[in-house]
Amino acid sequence: MRILVTGGAGFIGSHVVDAYLGAGHEVAVVDNLSTGHRDNLNPAAKFFEADIRSDRMSNIFSEFRPDVVNHHAAQKSVPYSVENPRFDADVNLMGLLNLLDLCQQHGVQQFILASSGGALADPGLIPSPESGSPLFVSPYSVAKYASEKYLEFYQHTYGIQTLCFRYANVYGPRQTPDGEAGVVAIFTQNILRGLPCKIYALPGMPRGATRDYVYVKDLVVAHEMAVTRRVSGVYNLGTGIETDTRTLVDELFAISGRVVPVTVQGARAGDLARSCLDSSKIARDLGWSFTTSVTDGLTRTYEWAHSLHEES
Ligand SMILES: NC(=O)c1ccc[n+]([C@@H]2O[C@H](COP(=O)([O-])OP(=O)(O)OC[C@H]3O[C@@H](n4cnc5c(N)ncnc54)[C@H](O)[C@@H]3O)[C@@H](O)[C@H]2O)c1
Repeated sequence: MRILVTGGAGFIGSHVVDAYLGAGHEVAVVDNLSTGHRDNLNPAAKFFEADIRSDRMSNIFSEFRPDVVNHHAAQKSVPYSVENPRFDADVNLMGLLNLLDLCQQHGVQQFILASSGGALADPGLIPSPESGSPLFVSPYSVAKYASEKYLEFYQHTYGIQTLCFRYANVYGPRQTPDGEAGVVAIFTQNILRGLPCKIYALPGMPRGATRDYVYVKDLVVAHEMAVTRRVSGVYNLGTGIETDTRTLVDELFAISGRVVPVTVQGARAGDLARSCLDSSKIARDLGWSFTTSVTDGLTRTYEWAHSLHEES
């Protein structure tokens, strides 16, 4: 199959590209390198340096003629979306619609969206199933939810098979410590540099918020299944296990054999106390389940970051 991966120079998208190539698919990447890196590009994939909102996308679809579009390019920062809702909507909605229109015009069979379980989880239900009621506390959540609904529309009206994967907190090699997300990448880098790790304590939760940490290679398996099994709809991809921030830090101390100071601060506005996804729907429909424990995933992530640190 010919698969176009948007955001394929980024953290998660680049792992998806590697897996599709490994499975024998022909792959092209579209990325504007705004947060992605050339180093992440697999040389076996065709690379188009382009913005998903641009007119150039039409030529790219004509040239590559994808059967499947796997959409990872996004404005992914929640705080940035709060400060710049229009920019967020421009990339995350107008960019999406540009792609969906092209899919319709070029007869693309399947569209897979990287959505967010954290942004769309029902905070009253732990672990949260896909059917809960999200709290729309950021333009990022609104745009991801609207994206899912646009996919429903394009499937219903034009017959494009559409699938939304709602990720839990993804971590692993190639995640960058920039910005507010990617706590594993931030802690790993701080430990390597001897800098403190910061925990945001919440009322009654001195060890910090809990999150559902899923290893990137486990997600990728679901993407491989998706193109061969052709399901549609919305699916959570998480572990169903809550890990608090202090446990994460302690695990990384044990793995690295290093200890840095841990500072504790009050929670930031908008910090959710708990987040964890119920992934039983995809286990039932596709037989997917995570296989990497947090300890194993953190070990692999630390080893990758350590080797980069040694090189630099
Ligand atoms: N990392 C997580 O824990 C997580 C959780 C839930 C959902 N997601 C979603 O997964 C997707 C990938 O996230 P990531 O963590 O790999 O982020 P990332 O920043 O590493 O990857 C995003 C890629 O998209 C590219 N990009 C951004 N805007 C673009 C545009 N207008 N045109 C073309 N390319 C553009 C960037 O250069 C980058 O390579 C995003 O849609 C994000 O919302 C991530």
